[in-house]
Amino acid sequence: MTEAADQTKLLKQLVGQAAAERVQSNTVLGLGTGSTTAFAIATIGERLRSGSLTNVRGIPTSFQASVLAKQHGIPLITLDDVDSIDLAIDGADEVDPQLNLIKGGGAAHTREKVVDALAKEFIVVVDQSKLVDRLGSTFALPVEVLPMAVAPVTRALIALGGKPDLRMGIRKDGPVITDQGNMVLDVTFENLSDPAELEKTINNIPGVLENGLFIGLATIVLVGEIKDGQPVVRQIP
Ligand code: A5P
Repeated sequence: MTEAADQTKLLKQLVGQAAAERVQSNTVLGLGTGSTTAFAIATIGERLRSGSLTNVRGIPTSFQASVLAKQHGIPLITLDDVDSIDLAIDGADEVDPQLNLIKGGGAAHTREKVVDALAKEFIVVVDQSKLVDRLGSTFALPVEVLPMAVAPVTRALIALGGKPDLRMGIRKDGPVITDQGNMVLDVTFENLSDPAELEKTINNIPGVLENGLFIGLATIVLVGEIKDGQPVVRQIP
């Protein structure tokens, strides 16, 4: 691993742990997906084992989150079992100054949005590389699509000014298949000026399950960053 990759990993670990320290006993948790949230899940498990945390139940946002939660001893439930979620912890691929997000780098954004949107409090955990002035400037927008609708949805996204690319597997020939059995188009927009409007417009295309724009959902963002040469966690706002 390069020095930069080591540093990013350390920052992800720090924010993941910081979010897990905020978890309270007797709560229902939304368990996000990705490498940063994985550190939060591990720390929640440690706190359960040490007794500093009791009676939490998790709702996973993906197969990955479910496997990790089981590994770390976090009891799991489904949305059928509860009326609300107290706290969701999840990563992001981009965060803008209004705390709007792009998510879906791990193709889990559909379930993530269901869970994160139901949470009374939603803590986003990122390293400093995820902060952007404008959404879409560093990361293409993931759109989950029914396999039979990939061609018409691709045309509709091009008509909206996007450049869609079918996400391909790594060490698997052919497209990435989501936990729900669908495909993902990663859409580059030259000028994503109205994310709130674009979120609704894209979700209105027949065959689209969900896109990765998370508008007005985050309560706070914890950012792992280097300040005066030291790794620190900063809270926004
Ligand atoms: C999963 O689909 C994503 O939304 C992740 O939450 C996002 O990609 C952040 O992942 P990392 O924490 O691994 O950077």
